[in-house]
Amino acid sequence: MTDHDFITGLPKAELHLHIEGSLEPELMFALAQRNKVAIPYASIEEVRAAYSFSRLQDFLDIYYAGANVLQKQEDFRDLAVAYFDRAAADGVVHAEIMFDPQTHTDRGIAFGTVIEGLLAGMADANARYGMTSKLILCFLRHLDEDAAFVTLAAAEPWLDRIDAVGLDSSELGHPPEKFARVFAAARAKGLRLVAHAGEEGPPDYVLQALDLLEIDRLDHGNRSLEDPVLTARLARTGMTLTVCPLSNLKLCVVDDMANHPIDRMIKAGLRATINSDDPAYFGGYIADNYRAAASARGLDRGDLVLLARNSFLGSFLPDDAVAAHLARLDAYVEASR
Ligand code: HPA
Ligand code: ZN
Repeated sequence: MTDHDFITGLPKAELHLHIEGSLEPELMFALAQRNKVAIPYASIEEVRAAYSFSRLQDFLDIYYAGANVLQKQEDFRDLAVAYFDRAAADGVVHAEIMFDPQTHTDRGIAFGTVIEGLLAGMADANARYGMTSKLILCFLRHLDEDAAFVTLAAAEPWLDRIDAVGLDSSELGHPPEKFARVFAAARAKGLRLVAHAGEEGPPDYVLQALDLLEIDRLDHGNRSLEDPVLTARLARTGMTLTVCPLSNLKLCVVDDMANHPIDRMIKAGLRATINSDDPAYFGGYIADNYRAAASARGLDRGDLVLLARNSFLGSFLPDDAVAAHLARLDAYVEASR
């Protein structure tokens, strides 16, 4: 079996995926027409050409503008269905997907429209592929904490179908401490907690996410490596990092894939995972991310299996489901020898 096919077939979980970031230009155009929404591009080629970023904010401006075409419940369902099709083709058997309700409610789209559409897409993926999935509600950190509390209140009728809250958008200048109270409130409601930290922000933001937000999982976390004491703590406590290689390259978190720290993370004993972040914008889905990291950093099959293993261990699945996935992974490795 080629390495390409080995990676595609490797059973894996995706733990860091913004569903709005899976909006491919083709669907963006189709929804713009269907909903009669103007978009500032004349062609699909022009959309792709606009995806050149030198920092996180460049991307976010385009990502929020693209989300304007999402209007109706079926748009959110179609978006999710398209993602799950790509994920299934890449060997994803479980996905924990993030969504940004404020991106939609601030444009007058009801919270229920967004989440019911996504839940319909999740049910479809389960019926067609047997894929399981969970929802992570992300607060936009460039907005204030009161707005996050309003969003948490809007989510109340669906809390039994939301597993976690997260924190995304512009990191610099919006440290985790800004959201300590709303994260405590979410935890009190039984939700798990994740946060983007250490993508562009300093190691201190990772520390705040650990100590002030009490996160269960760390999104990105790359800059933790600048602090050996923090790195050792993350390794010792078994914190999962959801690393996104192609995103890191596109947003200039790394200057070249040849310098990506994925193997340093593994060697430091961190529970690193590989994920796609915003695949429609960053040039690849999860298997592309595994392949890009593997070829740039010389990861062998043992490393790839470890990364897939970590994706199940770092998921929010119950222990028996994790054990079943790990057994399936072991059987795959055995069969591919
Ligand atoms: N970082 C922060 N916010 C985001 C990202 C990201 O990579 N993707 C979508 N929202
Ligand atoms: Zn992200």
